[in-house]
Amino acid sequence: MRATLMIKNAAQVVTSRGASEVPLTAEHQGEVTVYEDGAVAVAGDNIVAVGITGELLEKVEVDSQTKIIDAGGKVVLPGLVDPHTHVVFGGSREHELALKLEGVPYLEILARGGGILNSVEATRAASEEELIKAGIKYCRQMLVQGTTTAEAKSGYGLSTEAEIKTLQAVKQVDSAQPVDLVPTFLGAHAVPGEYKGEPDRYLDLVIDEMLPLVVGKNLARYCDVFCEEGVFSIEQSRRVLLAARDMGLGLKLHADEIAPLGGAELAAELGAVSADHLLVISDEGINRMAEKGVIAVILPGTTFYLREDHYAPARKMIEAGVPVALATDFNPGSSPNNNLQLIINIACLYLRMTPAEVINAITINAAHALGRAAEIGSIEVGKTADMVIFDAPNYDYLAYRYGTNLVSRVIKNGHVVVEV
Ligand code: NIG
Ligand code: FE
Repeated sequence: MRATLMIKNAAQVVTSRGASEVPLTAEHQGEVTVYEDGAVAVAGDNIVAVGITGELLEKVEVDSQTKIIDAGGKVVLPGLVDPHTHVVFGGSREHELALKLEGVPYLEILARGGGILNSVEATRAASEEELIKAGIKYCRQMLVQGTTTAEAKSGYGLSTEAEIKTLQAVKQVDSAQPVDLVPTFLGAHAVPGEYKGEPDRYLDLVIDEMLPLVVGKNLARYCDVFCEEGVFSIEQSRRVLLAARDMGLGLKLHADEIAPLGGAELAAELGAVSADHLLVISDEGINRMAEKGVIAVILPGTTFYLREDHYAPARKMIEAGVPVALATDFNPGSSPNNNLQLIINIACLYLRMTPAEVINAITINAAHALGRAAEIGSIEVGKTADMVIFDAPNYDYLAYRYGTNLVSRVIKNGHVVVEV
């Protein structure tokens, strides 16, 4: 067996094992295998061996063509997976910071025509090229911080033309740089100004015009809805998601973030792959998600940035058997952060998840939340060689340090794409 790339002498190679079919839950959420003095061998795009350095050097052939990386004193993880982002949008919203600090609530800013609607105006005004350029910039920021795959939602267009433009931009951004993007259609993100007070009429447009075009052009893998008080109700969300499911899309839902509407129960009823946010999820919602294996994608960076006084009940969900993933929710309003390393800190400190649970939440369980767990999310033979080498002596160190980019190298499809 000849390697094209070999990582050796790592202080730790850390990965889940055997969880490519079903996400990790309950006591397994925090199960990782740690190879001390670890090594990984890659041939082409794929991982061909993983284990202890001494053993791998015996069974894997290296020659003058093999790229050898000495990861002495460093930690190797699967490439990080960010399963909830709104990475393609126009403009930015730093001017809303003052309103925020005056105490104007998030939904009030939206009701005044700001918030999401502000970004809608900027996204509509932007050309596809401008969206692509900004999207590439944000993806590069993700990559140097260790993210190798991310979800990318539309939802700042809210007209047929601008939603299609956004999803086409997502496709271009995906192929123009190393981070793989999984596209999600979020036409039901807010009611645009021209449909103010007529959400159902806007949803007719989403269902009758946008969805068939998005599916026909193969521009999305999932459909999502912002189910929230003052945005879309449970009934309205169900209507959109049922139509999307009929057209072959997987389902996701922004659920139970600010008002407890029962979004988690709806996600379970419809067989969604994930329900996201979940700050005010009910006990019933937790049980239904556990029963149906719906993944909780928790977004603690958003809770932090909105200065909410409580976080999603991650411990309760894990104890009830809900698979937990974590994401940045990168977007121009409620979470202008695209660094998953910061999410590691916030999840440990405020969700009280252990570092090992968090690692699985941003690798294998996140890959499941994007339907990609057969190929990515762990360092196992046969999987795509997406890995991050951190300048950290052990994986606990990633949760301990914060605010510094600890990435030393990023490997995507078997190639070093970032070298610090
Ligand atoms: O996931 N909650 C709805 N959508 C985004 C926020 C979008 C925005 O404020 O621009 C979120 O938090
Ligand atoms: Fe979001």
